[in-house]
Amino acid sequence: MAELTYYGHAAFMLETGGVKIWIDPYLKGNPTATITPDKAEADYILVTHGHGDHVGDTVEIAERTLAVAISNAEICAWLREKGVRTHALHIGGGHEFSFGYVKMTPALHGSSMPDGSYGGSPGGFFLSLTDGSQYYFAGDTGLFGDMRLIGDEGLDAAVIPIGDNYTMGPKDALRAVQFLRPNIVIPMHYDTFDMIQQDVQAWKARVEQETDAQVLVMQPGDSASI
Ligand code: NI
Ligand code: MN
Repeated sequence: MAELTYYGHAAFMLETGGVKIWIDPYLKGNPTATITPDKAEADYILVTHGHGDHVGDTVEIAERTLAVAISNAEICAWLREKGVRTHALHIGGGHEFSFGYVKMTPALHGSSMPDGSYGGSPGGFFLSLTDGSQYYFAGDTGLFGDMRLIGDEGLDAAVIPIGDNYTMGPKDALRAVQFLRPNIVIPMHYDTFDMIQQDVQAWKARVEQETDAQVLVMQPGDSASI
């Protein structure tokens, strides 16, 4: 069990046992963000890939909070140059942290950094917390069949993109839910910009009709126990 807060687009904060774990803290420039980076509290920051709407305000938040960034080796090297403490992982590899195990999963996407430098391979994160709860944050990705393998781990919740254009759209995201088989699925990466507008309620209805998953539609600023 953990408390998940949504800050719009792909930005989340997961709190477990008093540890605050951010995922893709894009706040400044995010039209849906409900807080500014100077208000963010963080112990760890998970960065799925190098794009600006995911690296976001990692440097500013880490500078103030001394949070440790967890990402691939290339993104961690970029962040370290800016003074951020990091723990580098790479696709398929994981590590046991104080709050639980974090593994980097594959993603079908790009990963150039905001300054155009090389950001390694894009990823997602599988989290297995010390209390036994398990979560998957897909990051930006197209549908891939190995989501079945991630689903085999047993997921309390999965956070997946549905916006289309840059990532999976609603139809492929439904297939992703069929592969992942989570108890709860939380859609993200939609409605932030015109290009990724989606009818999330229609998607929720369809997913709940065709799978056993419960769709949790979070509004920016919402928190939920998952
Ligand atoms: Ni991206
Ligand atoms: Mn993105």
